[in-house]
Amino acid sequence: MKKTLIAANWKSNKTKTEAKNWLEEVSLQDIPEHLEVVIFSPFTLLDIISGYIRVNSLPLKLGAQDVSPFSSGAYTGEVSGAQIKEFADYVLIGHSERRSNFNESDEMVTEKTKRAIEKGLTPIVCVSKIEQVTSLPIDPKIILAYEPLGSIGTGNPEDPNVVSNFIKEVKDKFQLDVIYGGSVSGQNVKNYLSLDNVSGVLGGTNSLSPKSFIEIIKNAI
Ligand code: PGA
Repeated sequence: MKKTLIAANWKSNKTKTEAKNWLEEVSLQDIPEHLEVVIFSPFTLLDIISGYIRVNSLPLKLGAQDVSPFSSGAYTGEVSGAQIKEFADYVLIGHSERRSNFNESDEMVTEKTKRAIEKGLTPIVCVSKIEQVTSLPIDPKIILAYEPLGSIGTGNPEDPNVVSNFIKEVKDKFQLDVIYGGSVSGQNVKNYLSLDNVSGVLGGTNSLSPKSFIEIIKNAI
């Protein structure tokens, strides 16, 4: 059986100390075998988190929140897929905050996705509409995160029926795995994980405190 993904997107949050405190608390929680819990941390924390996971043999995976659209080289400020792969297995690509605040185009998202796959990273590509899937290089290694714009950081999660229809359309047309993101909490996570063909959830706000993230894990079916 494929594992259900429970992802934590910390966005531009947490210092080293805060990250360690989070890990200490979350690692006290039993993580059921059928869950794949992935922390999407800022680049600055990848090294210490991967070390902490290894030393303590924790059942947690790590991901970066972005990847350069280029290979290694003269691209000041960018972090390449090869550099990320030293610490992490996953990468988040095309989050709506990057598309809106940093003008990330579908073409840019496509290049980033290709670089991730080349380096053996699993890309979780965030989309809010089906057109954004159409422009991707369809590869079975891609996992889509369906994140409707009105649901991100608003406390207004999308109607599970709408999510279900989106997943069905993606499955029919592209056969890709889909997770849902947007105001996921311990209270509503079951509504999404019980949908047909859903592969997991991505939490932002409720991934920041260990308590609210543990609630998501506990209620994940
Ligand atoms: P949210 O964020 O859980 O705060 O809505 C989700 C995301 O942006 O990935």
